[in-house]
Amino acid sequence: EKAGYEHFMLKEMYEQPKTVADTLSPRIKGNDIVIEELGMSDAELLSIKKIHIVACGSAYHAGVTGKYVLEGLARIPVEVDLASEFRYRNPILEDGAMVVVISQSGETADTLAALRESKKRGFKVLGIVNVVGSSIARESDNVMYTWAGPEIAVATTKAYSAQLIALYLLAMKFARVKHTVTETEFSDMLGDLARLPDQIELLLNNKNRIQRFANRYIAAKDVFFIGRGIDYAISMEGSLKLKEISYIHSEAYAAGELKHGTISLIEEGTLVASVSTQPALYKKTISNMVEVKSRGAFVLAVTCEGNREIEKASDYVIYIPQTNPFFTNSLAIIPLQLFSYYVAVGKGCDVDKPRNLAKSVTVE
Ligand code: F6R
Repeated sequence: EKAGYEHFMLKEMYEQPKTVADTLSPRIKGNDIVIEELGMSDAELLSIKKIHIVACGSAYHAGVTGKYVLEGLARIPVEVDLASEFRYRNPILEDGAMVVVISQSGETADTLAALRESKKRGFKVLGIVNVVGSSIARESDNVMYTWAGPEIAVATTKAYSAQLIALYLLAMKFARVKHTVTETEFSDMLGDLARLPDQIELLLNNKNRIQRFANRYIAAKDVFFIGRGIDYAISMEGSLKLKEISYIHSEAYAAGELKHGTISLIEEGTLVASVSTQPALYKKTISNMVEVKSRGAFVLAVTCEGNREIEKASDYVIYIPQTNPFFTNSLAIIPLQLFSYYVAVGKGCDVDKPRNLAKSVTVE
């Protein structure tokens, strides 16, 4: 069933162009976005004053990206919570709030409990779910499915990519109704979304170069991922992928926060992966890269084509194709997934079934 791939994880990474296209296409009608499953009229969408996103693990990381995209495009305040925290902190949900829970399996106990808590308080819950008919899908008031198909590898790749797409669509829908983007911006964004599958394919085809690079880091003890804004959200997911399957300790830091403590961990040769896909923040992140490089770090940069300036602050650069800055996560995560995968393969780890982990976490 691995269709010739060595691991399910590799197969599922390769399914991402299709997953992205399948999650996008049913919701794009001509030059508009139609999300029937939302079950909300434009007037109802306009009445939403705040969005609470609740999820665990990678789905939470997708949610953090969603916050930047929803706030940036549609100017709606978004709070993102880990489901295990949301449940017990007596969250303040006010009139006009909408709760969005994100889950691949649809069975995660804490996410399900957060959904039930929100419903008990009288709030409508939108589920962004992959497994059709799962508990979260059944109990959500409305479900927006991510059409990733079954995901077998414990470490999520294609379902995460599909969650990002669902969130972009939601943000663009709100932006369209609220007129926070112009018609031209909107149709340019539709064009950028349509190009993502081919761009992801291109990045996947670069796997041999990433594998050679990854082989140099199979003995690494600590790896740091840094970025700002959406790049910080990508860093969190990149870091989780690495630690869960390769057992290398890694952390994600908001780039500007490094010097408030973490920089003391940088030693000669420590790998720092810098994600820098937001042109408005290029210069700021370069200065953080210089800070760690001057302390001996080996700096891997993931950035957009054209950002040649980054080369002076990096030891190794991976370029991703140009897209709208709100959508870069979908591209930048690909080399980070491949990097984690090849480090884990190089170390001889059980990539599809990492120790101590289960595909769906049905205990609290
Ligand atoms: C990481 C991973 C986990 C899940 C988390 C939530 O690769 O797979 O962090 O994202 O356990 O699971 P779902 O999305 O099924 O609720």
